[in-house]
Amino acid sequence: MDLYKVISGRRSIRKYKSDPVADEKVTKVLEAARIAPSAGNRQPWHFIVITDEEIKGRLKAAYDREWFHTAPVIICACGEPSKSWTRKDGRDYRDVDVAIAFDHLVLAATAEGLGTCWIGAFEPEVVREVLKIPEGIEPVVLTPLGYPDESPAARERKSFADFVYSNTWP
Ligand SMILES: Cc1cc2nc3c(=O)[nH]c(=O)nc-3n(C[C@H](O)[C@H](O)[C@H](O)COP(=O)(O)O)c2cc1C
Repeated sequence: MDLYKVISGRRSIRKYKSDPVADEKVTKVLEAARIAPSAGNRQPWHFIVITDEEIKGRLKAAYDREWFHTAPVIICACGEPSKSWTRKDGRDYRDVDVAIAFDHLVLAATAEGLGTCWIGAFEPEVVREVLKIPEGIEPVVLTPLGYPDESPAARERKSFADFVYSNTWP
């Protein structure tokens, strides 16, 4: 699929079919994440692929929306602070790196006809416990992964005038 069609066609999907997602498709979207750029090529990320119904059920306590658990797959992207590149002023780029890799996955999923929804409003300690994430690794974002059972309209975005500036801040 044309890249620009993928970008403009992506939506946050909050209703999923129960149809399974083939392992090859899951591997493809993870490969898109794997080759993402990262500061200093540190790749400070880990992706947990959850298909086990019992574990998915336990994740309800971390983000209690029915549509979240009905997708056949959930993916949790984690950051590893000790691996990420840090600028001289102390600014750490781990969330940026994880987000780039995650967005590669999201766009690849769209190209494969799969739906996703970035979820940041989860309880991190519940996710840590259920997924057995060790200290030093942080869950950053979750998404369901499955076939969309809805076609949401595009949500409103800023106009260029509201976020693109010429040469200096206006
Ligand atoms: C970092 C991040 C966190 C988000 N967290 C949530 C969330 O917790 N729950 C949710 O339903 N949507 C969440 N979203 C989805 C946004 O609501 C959605 O991207 C935005 O409304 C634009 O809609 P669209 O993705 O369909 O274009 C999140 C998106 C991002 C980028």
